[in-house]
Amino acid sequence: MKGVILAGGLGTRLRPLTSVTNKHLLAVYDKPMIYYPIQCLLNAGVNEILIVTGGEHAGDFLKLLGNGKSLGIKELHYTYQEGEGGIADALKLAEDFADGEKIIVVLGDNIIEKDIKRAVGDFFTQSSGAKILLKEVDDPQRFGVVRFENDRVVEILEKPENPPSNFAVTGIYMYDNDVFEIARTLKPSARGELEITDVNNAYIARGDLTYETLDGWWTDAGTFESLYRAAKLVVEGGANRCSGVNPRREVGAGAGS
Ligand code: DAU
Repeated sequence: MKGVILAGGLGTRLRPLTSVTNKHLLAVYDKPMIYYPIQCLLNAGVNEILIVTGGEHAGDFLKLLGNGKSLGIKELHYTYQEGEGGIADALKLAEDFADGEKIIVVLGDNIIEKDIKRAVGDFFTQSSGAKILLKEVDDPQRFGVVRFENDRVVEILEKPENPPSNFAVTGIYMYDNDVFEIARTLKPSARGELEITDVNNAYIARGDLTYETLDGWWTDAGTFESLYRAAKLVVEGGANRCSGVNPRREVGAGAGS
């Protein structure tokens, strides 16, 4: 399976930090944010990766990641999203890269503690459709939230005022190739974006969406509060880390510190 990291958008909630670079290159403790979704994919055995980025500082990705070899990526591709048309708009740009295969999509500001190997393995054997990963949270209003009926996900609501459950849809999605056909049918939401929640609801309508719950902690890092929380979680709780490029570990190994 191939991996797609969505790292477009303008990061306006993190200005002035994002006035000088892309949100996904900001530090989460000792590494740029983008390293965490990259490591999430690598840990799941996915080493053909497309990064979708945008905005004025897209060139900074190339400076940091180059061809990705130093991070252990076999093939690293880039593409550019004009404007900020939404997560599903960014995903549309991955169609040629996917080339008919299933894909795993990770939002560039999502960080997890553990790995997603089991879910990826399960999706590999799923004959069609989509899989989402859920996490129980205290503040579901900030996310896509699922409504269950008899343990089945029957609807996802984007940032609902009255959440039907405490289960947020994390920014890790697995899709068959129909996702691109579905994305072409979407209309912009009230916030003017093509919503990934509408994509997932389309799979629910087809009866072809499965879910699993994520082990360990999960956070986004797109606001000052969540960026701070992400750094704290990484420091205190560990995270799936880019071991090949962890400068602290290299220094520690040599200096015995
Ligand atoms: O973090 C999980 C949540 O992400 C889900 O629970 C929500 O259902 C989903 O809509 C999304 O919510 P956010 O409002 O937090 O998404 P945000 O606009 O912050 O975008 C998250 C990432 O998606 C961002 O870091 C980069 C990528 N993105 C976003 C937009 C709007 C793009 O690549 N292009 C875009 O145009």
